[in-house]
Amino acid sequence: MKLRILAILSVLTVVFYSCKSKSAGTTTTEDLYTPGDAQLKAIQAKYADVTAATLKEGHSIYIGACTNCHGKKNMYKHSEADWQNDINRMAPKAKITDAQKDALWKYVLAMRLAKGTPSN
Ligand code: HEC
Repeated sequence: MKLRILAILSVLTVVFYSCKSKSAGTTTTEDLYTPGDAQLKAIQAKYADVTAATLKEGHSIYIGACTNCHGKKNMYKHSEADWQNDINRMAPKAKITDAQKDALWKYVLAMRLAKGTPSN
């Protein structure tokens, strides 16, 4: 089961990066969800211990385990509290560990903060 998830994740990563290189110069859905320096800076102002690796992990869960049943949910909609609640509800469905859930939450928060999404 774990191996299957890993295989799915690596296929998704390959598909993701090949899509990305083809669409250079345009804004794609992927760009909306890809963490970079701005997102890292934004989250570190709140949680100094978050690293680029944390955001990368959260991102791969978001586009991996979290899309097994439905598409990518728009993380810039709804309040921070709603997102925290949804992540708590969805984590058992996605069968992720508490550490993975934390990385996912920091990633979602970083993306929202960098975009200036209001918390409520
Ligand atoms: C096993 C299937 C499954 C997995 C895996 C899963 N979800 Fe869901 N998700 C659902 C279903 C079914 C609903 C709609 C019913 C509900 O809200 O409980 C839903 C609803 C949601 C909603 C809120 C409703 C909306 O559309 O606004 C969000 C946000 C969400 N999921 C995010 C996630 C995230 C983040 C993950 C990864 C941690 C995830 N889901 C993994 C099945 C899944």
